[in-house]
This record gives sequence, C-alpha cells and structure tokens, in this order.
Amino acid sequence: MATRHTESMMNTEATGPDVQPILEIKGVRKTFRRGKRTVEALAEVELQVRDGEFLTILGPSGCGKSTLLHIIGGFETATAGSVHLEGRPVTGPGRALGMMFQHGALFPWKNVLDNVAWPLVAARVGRREARAAAMEYVELVGLSGFQDSYPGELSGGMRQRVALARTLALKPRVLLMDEPFGALDAQTRELMQEELNRVWSTTGTTVVFVTHDINEAAFLGDRVVVMGARPGRIVHVEQVALPRPRTAESKKDPRLLEQHNRLWDVLRNEMQPRADGAGR
Ligand SMILES: Nc1ncnc2c1ncn2[C@@H]1O[C@H](COP(=O)(O)OP(=O)(O)OP(=O)(O)O)[C@@H](O)[C@H]1O
Ligand SMILES: [Mg+2]
Repeated sequence: MATRHTESMMNTEATGPDVQPILEIKGVRKTFRRGKRTVEALAEVELQVRDGEFLTILGPSGCGKSTLLHIIGGFETATAGSVHLEGRPVTGPGRALGMMFQHGALFPWKNVLDNVAWPLVAARVGRREARAAAMEYVELVGLSGFQDSYPGELSGGMRQRVALARTLALKPRVLLMDEPFGALDAQTRELMQEELNRVWSTTGTTVVFVTHDINEAAFLGDRVVVMGARPGRIVHVEQVALPRPRTAESKKDPRLLEQHNRLWDVLRNEMQPRADGAGR
C-alpha cells in the first residue's frame, strides 16, 4: 500500500544534533493475530521525543494510537522494532513510564489520598511518607480539601485529576496519556486541558498524549503527530505555533484556528475511504 509522505513527515526527530531524545521509537510494528485473522495495527513507526516535550498524537479511531502508547509503556510487545527510554530498551512497565488510561480506574473503597498514595505504598515507600508525597500531588491537581472523599463522591473531572495525581506521584520520566479526557463533557474537558498545561509547566515531565480532538492536540502540544489508519503509521508531524505559557486566552488565538484547519485537512484525508480499497 502506498504511504503518503508529507514534507513535515521527516521531522519525527525531536532534537537538534546536540540533544539526546528521552524516548526513541525505532521501526516499531505491531501485528495482532487471532486465529487465522491478522490485523496490522502498526507499520514501521519512527519517532523521537525530546526531554520535557509535550507531544500529542492525533489520529482517527482504530489507527493504532493506544497500541503505540501501550508499546511505549511496555504493556504490549512490538512485533518488530524497539523503544528506548534514556538510551535503555523498554522491556516492560516500570516507574519511569507513567501511564494514564482513558478511564483511570480508581479504587472505590479508598479515599482520594490513599488512591494517590497507593502506587507509592506498592513501591514500598512507607505509608506516612507516601501519604505526605500524595498530598503534594492532590494539591497540585487542585483537589485540596477533597483528600478524604471517595471516588463515588467526585465528578468525572475530579476523578481524572486523582488519576493524574496518582500517576505523577511516582515522578515518571515520561507521562503517557491515552485520551484521558475522552469521557468528560466539553466544558470540563477544556478546563482539564488548562489544568494539565499548568501541571506540566510546574513538573517539567515529558508527556506523550493521545487524542482524536484536534484543538486539544494543538492547544496542549509542542508538536503534533498525526497518524493514519490501516495500517497505523505516522503521516504528518508539525510544530505548534502557539506561544507559551498557554492559558484560556490562547484558545482564542487565531494561530490555533489556522493550525486546527491545517490538521483537519490532514486528518480528513486519512478518514476518507481510499480508491485502492486500503481505507475503511
Ligand atoms: N488485543 C487486540 N487484538 C486484536 N486486535 C487489536 C487488539 N488491540 C487493538 N487491535 C486492533 O488494532 C487496531 C488499532 O487499535 P487501537 O486500539 O490501537 O486504535 P486507536 O487508535 O487507539 O483507536 P481509538 O481512537 O478508537 O481508541 C484496530 O484495528 C484494533 O482492532
Ligand atoms: Mg485508543
């Protein structure tokens, strides 16, 4: 199948000659096999992520975004290729790669503080120390006063804040986020994007963020990677023109609209059925 190359596709390198990428994804492919059926979920993905970068991955449903993120996080093995974190191969999940899933599952029987402290306790940090560290992150995500509440007493946005605090508490080198705001209503989602921006600029963590929302990708990202489907691959990469710090005001910036329109053109192309029958 012909792969559509764009000028900017070559720019999958996040770095100049003097900077080492924190994450290096080389020749990653993934084929799922179920009985006689095979699905080529990812074809040859090459990508580098710079230390401290906020990278967003945009693509239509089923193009392999989650598969790629799971491979980066070590939750899924690649059929071919490799992922290196700070020069070392990723062979399984670990503390350095924090993963936040779409429906961040919290323990309903634990309160907010204990939910956030849990991974630290599991990593054998003493309970008192874990709770003190957890409290810092509860405050960072704007939930002070709710540390004793139970997940059932929180809104969807608040639960995602807890999930974010829980992932950050382990101080991952890279934070992997798979459509973390997908289940939220439009207004809460906007507020959460602004919150995440603030938290990211405070912690300086490298983020790889998957979404199918163009504005979200452009508002949050330093760089946007667009994936195409069947098989999943990178079809376009571009730098986001919007200056930082980004606030609610940035959403009114005409540069965001321009970027949205350009990305939508690329994405629309990927969503249309192809004449060669390779599309959906
Ligand atoms: N465990 C699996 N077994 C078989 N096929 C799978 C498995 N996981 C994913 N796939 C297939 O791989 C392809 C990519 O799936 P993936 O979940 O990565 O897409 P996605 O881009 O995250 O989609 P969405 O935006 O809907 O979340 C799809 O065709 C899917 O059916
Ligand atoms: Mg997905």
